[in-house]
Amino acid sequence: MRITESTKRLEAYTPGEQPKSKAVIKLNTNENPYPPSPKCAKTLASFDLDRLRRYPDPVFMALREEIAKITGAKTENVFVGNGSDEILSLSAKAFVENNEIIASLNPSYSLYKTLAAIRDVEWAGSPIGGKIRIPENSSLFLWTNPNAPTGELAKPQDIALFARNFKGVVIVDEAYADFAKVNCMSLATAPKNKNIIVMRTLSKSYSLAGLRVGFCIGPKDLIEALYKIKDSYNVDAIAQSVALAALKDRAYHKKTVSKVIKTRKFFTKELVKRGWDVIPSEANFVFAKPPKGSAADIFAALKKKNIFVRYFPGELTGGRLRITIGTDEEMTRLLKALDSIACS
Ligand SMILES: Cc1ncc(COP(=O)(O)O)c(C=O)c1O
Repeated sequence: MRITESTKRLEAYTPGEQPKSKAVIKLNTNENPYPPSPKCAKTLASFDLDRLRRYPDPVFMALREEIAKITGAKTENVFVGNGSDEILSLSAKAFVENNEIIASLNPSYSLYKTLAAIRDVEWAGSPIGGKIRIPENSSLFLWTNPNAPTGELAKPQDIALFARNFKGVVIVDEAYADFAKVNCMSLATAPKNKNIIVMRTLSKSYSLAGLRVGFCIGPKDLIEALYKIKDSYNVDAIAQSVALAALKDRAYHKKTVSKVIKTRKFFTKELVKRGWDVIPSEANFVFAKPPKGSAADIFAALKKKNIFVRYFPGELTGGRLRITIGTDEEMTRLLKALDSIACS
């Protein structure tokens, strides 16, 4: 029995805590506080179990057709993953040689660094703001937009300019783009762009984190590379059906997204009133610095009150808390709790 050296060295990714108790106000993993579209429930209720005797469509054509409609892409430019995390993992295999580097903004989605470690290559982070600075032999750049955990939104033209001068593949990770005022989808569908992939997930704006469906759009050769190396049946039959129902219900999606944005505005205003420094967010969370007390202490005090937010220790992130936008009621309860622990 032998475990590779890189696996032995690996510091595994730590996902946000998933509490067992329903009493917890859970604002730590950027999930959606509203249920998925009622069309998903209908699809599940009428799902013919006999279909599970058979393998699912390995190339999820019905889903791709719907995604193509939404994004303006051709189906040959669409790939679907078992969550967008799977797409990231496949990309680390398909677009990076053993001596090359995976790069991203820093701070950003902390899984990127772990993916590089799993792939046994280096990761490099570029400071946010100003020109991107990364090593010459970087071959995959993961640009989270809006960024996580900061919530900041980069301009599509700045990402396009960066990609033009980058020799590798740029994946714009748009996990939170449905909550933002602009997105980069037109960069992925423009035939002149040869190295830009735009990735989305159903985990956030569609309230389907438990289903595990993400997708990406990009140039045909890059998308074909992902199909080549994926597991044969990476998206199960139930996930394909439920995801399709969610994508088709555009009106419900729009309504849910606008509720979250409205609550984000209300909550940001309330935090600012209390003296917090809140980075203007285009996502379904805010990254905020308390006027007094340490972020770590407030995180712990909230946890005692059954309110979970996210704290990322470290020089770049340790001064702030990342707080997912829940319902108005949840955010009001959080504000009350913050007032009672006297950090404002
Ligand atoms: C920036 C970013 N990308 C990707 C993901 C993963 O999404 P999925 O649930 O589709 O794997 C997350 C989840 O938190 C995220 O924050």
